[in-house]
Amino acid sequence: MSAAAGEPAADVPAAELVAVTKRFGPVLANDAIDLAVAKGEIHAVVGENGAGKSTLMSVLYGLHRPDSGHVRREGRRIRLRSPPTPSPTGSAWCTSVSGCSPSSPWPRTW
Ligand SMILES: Nc1ncnc2c1ncn2[C@@H]1O[C@H](COP(=O)(O)OP(=O)(O)O)[C@@H](O)[C@H]1O
Ligand SMILES: [Mg+2]
Repeated sequence: MSAAAGEPAADVPAAELVAVTKRFGPVLANDAIDLAVAKGEIHAVVGENGAGKSTLMSVLYGLHRPDSGHVRREGRRIRLRSPPTPSPTGSAWCTSVSGCSPSSPWPRTW
């Protein structure tokens, strides 16, 4: 069955990182990372300090531009120039210090 007009096909991920590589000078923070997230899915990105988790989420959110690779939203390649509100990747940035709960003493990020 084909998707309704304007609707992405059911098997197309809501957001994707395709071969995302990001360096900070000599530091290779993300090395050709692929990630596909379906609508409604919950993922955990786990790794030791410095593994590149925040960098990867920053690329997804549009805070960092990848050196190579790209971001897709519902199958379409998008270019994020700055973190919009809300992000066209459907992502929000909730850092450990900014807080996202209504009771948090820290400001919301968006
Ligand atoms: N803005 C930055 N400038 C220079 N190096 C950075 C910057 N952000 C992250 N890094 C480096 O990239 C690597 C990955 O960092 P990060 O994504 O913060 O890891 P994690 O979130 O997994 O702890 C680390 O070596 C870190 O020092
Ligand atoms: Mg981090």
